[in-house]
Amino acid sequence: MKKDFLTILGLAQQEAHELVRRAKEMKDSGHRSNILENKSFILIFEKASTRTKVSFEVGIRHLGGHYVFMASKDSQLGRSEPLKDTARVLSRYADGLIVRTYGQARLEELARHSSVPVINALTDEHHPCQVMSDLLTIYELTPDFNDLIITWIGDGNNMAQSWINAAACFPFQLKMAFPEGYGPREDLIEQALNMGAKIFITHDPAEAVQGANYVNTDVWASMGREQEQDKRASVFKGFTLNEELLRLADHNVKVLHCLPAHRGEEITDQVIEGKWSIVWDQAENRLHMQKAILEWIVTPGN
Ligand code: CP
Ligand code: NVA
Repeated sequence: MKKDFLTILGLAQQEAHELVRRAKEMKDSGHRSNILENKSFILIFEKASTRTKVSFEVGIRHLGGHYVFMASKDSQLGRSEPLKDTARVLSRYADGLIVRTYGQARLEELARHSSVPVINALTDEHHPCQVMSDLLTIYELTPDFNDLIITWIGDGNNMAQSWINAAACFPFQLKMAFPEGYGPREDLIEQALNMGAKIFITHDPAEAVQGANYVNTDVWASMGREQEQDKRASVFKGFTLNEELLRLADHNVKVLHCLPAHRGEEITDQVIEGKWSIVWDQAENRLHMQKAILEWIVTPGN
């Protein structure tokens, strides 16, 4: 059966842990291989990207493979060719599809009609490759996830929801603060809690940051929601990650942001450029994690 990587919970817990370990090993050894020799991947992107696009492209080359980038606006997808037709055709050309799109249902439809593995390169609901590489960034500094407090401040978006998935697979405590009405899907929280996740939800950023070892934030208006930017800027007032808020965290707290960042909105320039920030290592780790994910996806499963 083909493997897909559509959400973190699509991985067995053991596989999620192994991906983090393997990505670290690949990073430390400057890993290169030919595991993707004679294999081609198609990147289908319906939204903009810098990190995800380039780290997959470079990662595929490091593993000896080949890629084709297809922006939807330049393809027949942008002229409403059905996704299921696109999936069936492209999976006859390639060995895997790496897809950035809108609804998760759209990605799932594509995966259903693709005969080759599909990797989620971001949807409105999930960003699993990013959160897996954030887990790698944390693992490098604190390999034992037990007793860690990881905080999320801001929108209950794709990143927040993938963090909720991650909390079901790794033993850290996840403290999250959202403005009322901007939280993540309740059913995802329920699902994670039923799997043993330790999740604490509040509307008060100060409460969420208390004692945190890592504090995470992201833009207030994700791609596709740009028209809500002004309204969100007023709703999210008080949710800016600044030095004052970080004083409530652990004295050694580190700050994560998946980037791109809007300085002066969800994070101050002082924080992203300051001693707390590990965002550049976090961005680098996208490459190492993509390589681990690509290796996993072409390795036959049990
Ligand atoms: N963090 C992230 O996914 O960045 P891009 O949108 O640049 O790929
Ligand atoms: N939540 C952001 C993440 C960008 C990498 C977005 O979806 O636009």
